[in-house]
Amino acid sequence: MLRTPEAVRDAERWTAHNYHPLPVVIASAEGSWLTDVDGRRYLDCLAGYSALNFGHRHPKLIEAAHAQLDRLTLTSRAFIHDQFADFCRELAELCGKDLVLPMNTGAEAVETGIKVARKWGYQVKGVAPGQANIVVAEGNFHGRTTTIVSFSTDEDARADFGPYTPGFTVVPYGDLAALTAAIDENTVAVLIEPIQGEQGVVVPPAGYLPGVRRVCTERNVLFVADEIQSGLGRTGDTFACDHEGVTPDMYLLGKALGGGIVPVSAVAANADVLGVLKPGQHGSTFGGNPLACAVATEVVRLLATGEFQRRSAELGARLHAGLTALVGKGLVAVRGRGLWAGLDIDPALMSGREACERLMERGVLAKDTHGSTIRLAPPLVITEEEIDHAVAQLAAVLAG
Ligand SMILES: Cc1ncc(COP(=O)(O)O)c(C=O)c1O
Repeated sequence: MLRTPEAVRDAERWTAHNYHPLPVVIASAEGSWLTDVDGRRYLDCLAGYSALNFGHRHPKLIEAAHAQLDRLTLTSRAFIHDQFADFCRELAELCGKDLVLPMNTGAEAVETGIKVARKWGYQVKGVAPGQANIVVAEGNFHGRTTTIVSFSTDEDARADFGPYTPGFTVVPYGDLAALTAAIDENTVAVLIEPIQGEQGVVVPPAGYLPGVRRVCTERNVLFVADEIQSGLGRTGDTFACDHEGVTPDMYLLGKALGGGIVPVSAVAANADVLGVLKPGQHGSTFGGNPLACAVATEVVRLLATGEFQRRSAELGARLHAGLTALVGKGLVAVRGRGLWAGLDIDPALMSGREACERLMERGVLAKDTHGSTIRLAPPLVITEEEIDHAVAQLAAVLAG
């Protein structure tokens, strides 16, 4: 096995530079801990951007994957397989919705949500052909396809990828009046993240999500919640929308749904919405494959116990208390909910990248975003001691 410097060098040599990873080369992992090719251990405080909510190699998920690998891995949706119905039913029940449409990546779930909302707009709402519009928020992150980056407000994500897909109106995040004003007779959906992860774990003002729900209902517009990063236990509830008692018309799910093993995403909605799709109108060869369904069903069962949501709420309180104590001592602000935090580092001290590099040297892995912000999203299996350890390492980095 190559040691770290050679492995970093080779990775840079043989791949497009569409990422700027920390110079750490992981070889194995368990629970909240990673081990690199040189045998150094790191506490994972990113958890694959929430794709690893249940930690690395959760025994129940690994067992489900192994059992399925030994029986059946892929059929395509041309046939039905024996894992499919259970997965769709159990996820639909978790979401409180009639139907589920499984895909693979988060971006595909978002694309699916956009297509379904447009078709619903034409066929159910009666929007004039070609006029459907979707209201989205500034600072959004919904993925990397050409349509999705068309309404990104991050120039890195958007510039030079045009021509752009029309049919989106961007309004400031958290501003209900602006959102309401942007809705007209052609609006088919409001598509927002209930907490903006990539933007730096930005929580909207209290009352915003219920306001969006109310306006969408009044104006016959679908409320599409991108819970790909915020959902499935991350915030201390099953969905981030739950904190405000809000039920969207469509949930977009991904990341943790695949248990950190396989890419699994899904759209969940009622039959009057998802029912607009007919055979041949949408799909994916790998969407809802047997391996994905076997793992994701186990993910849904883990969530159905409520244990992970509880852990996230309780341990999240500890994490936020520890981080809040560092405001004024190198941190400018702390935001978030549950085991999810966005920290603004005092830019006079160091950049977010620099802070992450120094944390890495101290055995804690996290990821910066937008200059001076760090995101912390540890696996929900993290312990109190491990949280205290991560906060202590951050304090030491900030103290220089
Ligand atoms: C809120 C949100 N939506 C969509 C996506 C896209 O998911 P994927 O990278 O699996 O395509 C992400 C990924 O970070 C996300 O955070």
